[in-house]
Amino acid sequence: MLRYVRPHAASLTLVFVLALLGAAFELARPWPLKVVVDYVLVGQALPAWLAGLAGLLPYADSPRGLLLWAVVAGAVTVIGSVLTMLVVRMIIVTVAQRMVFDLSREVFARLQRLSLSFHGRHAVGDLVQRVGQDVFVVQGVLSAVALPAIVAALSLVGMFMIMSRLDLTLALVAVAVVPLMLAALAVFGRQMTASSTRQWQTQGAMMAFLQQSLSAVPAIQGFARERYVQRKLEERGDDLLDAHNQATFVSLRYNQATVLITGLGTAVLLGLGGARVLDGHLSAGDLLVFLAYLAALYAPLNSVTTSIGAGVAAVTRGRRVFEVLDSQEEVPERPQPVELIRARGEVVFDDVTFGYWQNQDEEALPVLEQISLRAEPGQITAIVGATGAGKSSLISLLVRFYDPWSGSVRIDGHDLRDLSLRSLRENVSLVLQETFLFPMSVAENIAFGRPEASRAEIVEAARAAHAHRFIERLPEGYDTQIGEKGATLSGGERQRIAIARAILKDAPILILDEPTSALDAHTEAQIFEAISHLMKNSTTFIISHRLSTIRRADQILALENGRLAEQGTHESLLAAGRVYAHLYKHQHLAAL
Ligand SMILES: Nc1ncnc2c1ncn2[C@@H]1O[C@H](COP(=O)(O)OP(=O)(O)O)[C@@H](O)[C@H]1O
Ligand SMILES: [Mg+2]
Repeated sequence: MLRYVRPHAASLTLVFVLALLGAAFELARPWPLKVVVDYVLVGQALPAWLAGLAGLLPYADSPRGLLLWAVVAGAVTVIGSVLTMLVVRMIIVTVAQRMVFDLSREVFARLQRLSLSFHGRHAVGDLVQRVGQDVFVVQGVLSAVALPAIVAALSLVGMFMIMSRLDLTLALVAVAVVPLMLAALAVFGRQMTASSTRQWQTQGAMMAFLQQSLSAVPAIQGFARERYVQRKLEERGDDLLDAHNQATFVSLRYNQATVLITGLGTAVLLGLGGARVLDGHLSAGDLLVFLAYLAALYAPLNSVTTSIGAGVAAVTRGRRVFEVLDSQEEVPERPQPVELIRARGEVVFDDVTFGYWQNQDEEALPVLEQISLRAEPGQITAIVGATGAGKSSLISLLVRFYDPWSGSVRIDGHDLRDLSLRSLRENVSLVLQETFLFPMSVAENIAFGRPEASRAEIVEAARAAHAHRFIERLPEGYDTQIGEKGATLSGGERQRIAIARAILKDAPILILDEPTSALDAHTEAQIFEAISHLMKNSTTFIISHRLSTIRRADQILALENGRLAEQGTHESLLAAGRVYAHLYKHQHLAAL
């Protein structure tokens, strides 16, 4: 937390000084009242210091003149206090907004770096809630917790000092409510933490549900399941409402308890103080000052305890934010990683075993077992196998989305764990099975891996990917903005943009995971022709079900249930008559 406060130390010091000033104005506020009651109305003689002051002011020697000056003094203290608090709040809001933004930026940066296993376990909507909403906790802490706490503490000390000079016993009774307030906090604190944790978790789950179902509207409508999903939403809504209500009820009970404590405290003091006035220990004006202080004291005390309630909520939301910031699930880099400048492109898997869950879990089953393979620079390797055989998992190790349980993956003889992640990934061009397009222009999408590429280069890549023609027909050609999820493009068009992106990046290692599944065989053949032309120097891995593509590969790897069942060329594997031949015969490979 401190790290976020430090850059704003100057502003926050100013806030503190102004809060002191504000507290001073607050302390001065009841005194004109005393002057009016004791010296104007009751007609007591002025004490020496006040008489001296009155001597300096015109007309202050008559009761009406004194009344006028008391009113002026009252107005000055009010205006002073209002102005100071206005400035204080403006500074706080400015600082807090800045801090919220900084925090949000940092959480987003962190989320981008966190490994896919982290993202595999957190719903997008929940993370959106954290990065977009929960970060506002900072603002809450500053303006609803820290500020009232400071003001209350300052006023408390100042008022106690003044009150104790008027009447020590009464002053002690007045501050006796403080421990009572703390007791109430102790009673309600745990309940508040529990209920607010649940509240924000449910809120995150709700965001996740909304995000996922809104992304799935075509499927929902296609299956005519609007009502069904609506009902699911409402079930979650009930949960959320319940959680919100519980949290609100607890803090309401707590707030009312503090109001009760302070209210009873005031009644007791009124009784005691009235008795003191009757005894002649206090003047009526003093009692008024006392009661005014009490009101002024209990208000910030109430707000502090309320804001401690807010603070409890803040802590739970803050935890959600810091859980992201403190998450260690990055694929770790060595302290001094090797920078791979431009790889030759030799890829080796050495006895690799891998699963998505860490080995400490006894139940964990590997997805890939004892895979060893070797691809020479410039070679094309085709990977075939039934769905779920582990093809995508295999290549995800090559970009180090995950680390193997055992064995190693090497590029040019470097274990991937020794390389800087950035330089590793600069050397790999990737077309994922699922195409990701970004809410940017088509040109920017193609140039995603090389933002400095010229328009001519972008067009060249698009031509090679057979994307140029349809891009030109888009309303604004290459400058057309792609809607969320590329909704306006067909699956095949999206794939071709992703392929153009990989071609433009021109990395020494090219990975294509079923890159053309949404294209017809003819287009696929043409694209592959263009790629193998452009990528003569790249080591290429391609996962495909199309024979025409697989056939051209220098080697074919057949995966079966996470094991490398066979490897060889098309002819040799057909001749062997095992896994590949089986796939071929049963037309798992489209024979085109
Ligand atoms: N992110 C993931 N977390 C957990 N299991 C996964 C994940 N991705 C894939 N799997 C599992 O790993 C196995 C291999 O999947 P995958 O490599 O995608 O197969 P393929 O690409 O050959 O169809 C499957 O059983 C799949 O359910
Ligand atoms: Mg796959």
